[in-house]
Amino acid sequence: MEDVAEKSLRPSTLSQYIGQTKVKEELHIYIKAAKQRQEALDHVLLYGPPGLGKTTMAMVIANEMDVQIKTTSGPAIEKPGDLVAILNELEPGDVLFIDEIHRLPRVAEELLYSAMEDFYVDIMIGQGPTSHPVHFELPPFTLVGATTRAGMLSAPLRDRFGIVCHMEYYETEDLKEIVLRSADIFDVTIEESGAYEIALRSRGTPRIANRLLKRVRDFAQVKSEGLVTDEIADEALKMLQVDHKGLDYVDQKLLKAMIELYDGGPVGLTTIAVNISEERETVEDMYEPYLIQKGFIKRTSRGRVATYLAYEHLGYDWKE
Ligand code: ADE
Repeated sequence: MEDVAEKSLRPSTLSQYIGQTKVKEELHIYIKAAKQRQEALDHVLLYGPPGLGKTTMAMVIANEMDVQIKTTSGPAIEKPGDLVAILNELEPGDVLFIDEIHRLPRVAEELLYSAMEDFYVDIMIGQGPTSHPVHFELPPFTLVGATTRAGMLSAPLRDRFGIVCHMEYYETEDLKEIVLRSADIFDVTIEESGAYEIALRSRGTPRIANRLLKRVRDFAQVKSEGLVTDEIADEALKMLQVDHKGLDYVDQKLLKAMIELYDGGPVGLTTIAVNISEERETVEDMYEPYLIQKGFIKRTSRGRVATYLAYEHLGYDWKE
């Protein structure tokens, strides 16, 4: 295999990881200190919108700590036994990564309290008169939890994370670097201006930038012998219905529904979700945070409101 093909799209060290400067700075110190003391790193909570690299960061942490990582997710753990099975596989210092940790069932979450604090679990084995408690000792380990919103975790769970990191939307310059790095790995020839155009329109999110890069590559291959320029990126993104502010078809549909059906609001989140045939949670986690950050939507006590910027951007007359 060629060297470039072997290079993974995911960065494996903090120094390869582009963006999230504040999170990296903090983690660099805590990792170094834990390694010097030859201890497991304290438990880490990573929170922020989907696609910003929480899973990647968990892998980077394990790699920097020189330990194994075991991965699962909140919804994958249905009963306490599922969690015990994974805890049982941990070696001293290992990272246990639980994605979507806010979706962990209550009984499993409660097991984590003692596991995180004192490295043991007490579980009931068997049913009825023969059931009995069993005490399991665990090696010291690092729980890395990921969630879209820290507020979705119960306070007892949240309080047991010593390190809490907020992942932010990426700056355009950082996203451009990520696009250039991914293009190198995919063997795509791209001009800086092409990478910048993709970065501008990726909603601050590497997962989206990498997805758009693949589609733009297809477009470039068929239309311009493979070279990605800013014009080619622009044409491809137009075809993909991603506008100049990076709003995709669903973002646009959401804002149009608010403006056309509810006179710009205030309108409840559930009503918006129904109108665009999406789950409420998807709207709340994936669409709304970016639209709020860019100033297209405001949250008020009576519901969501489309702002002047949204009217202007979509070409509607402002109502006043
Ligand atoms: N690929 C996806 N996200 C990345 C990041 N933050 N740094 C480097 N490469 C990436």
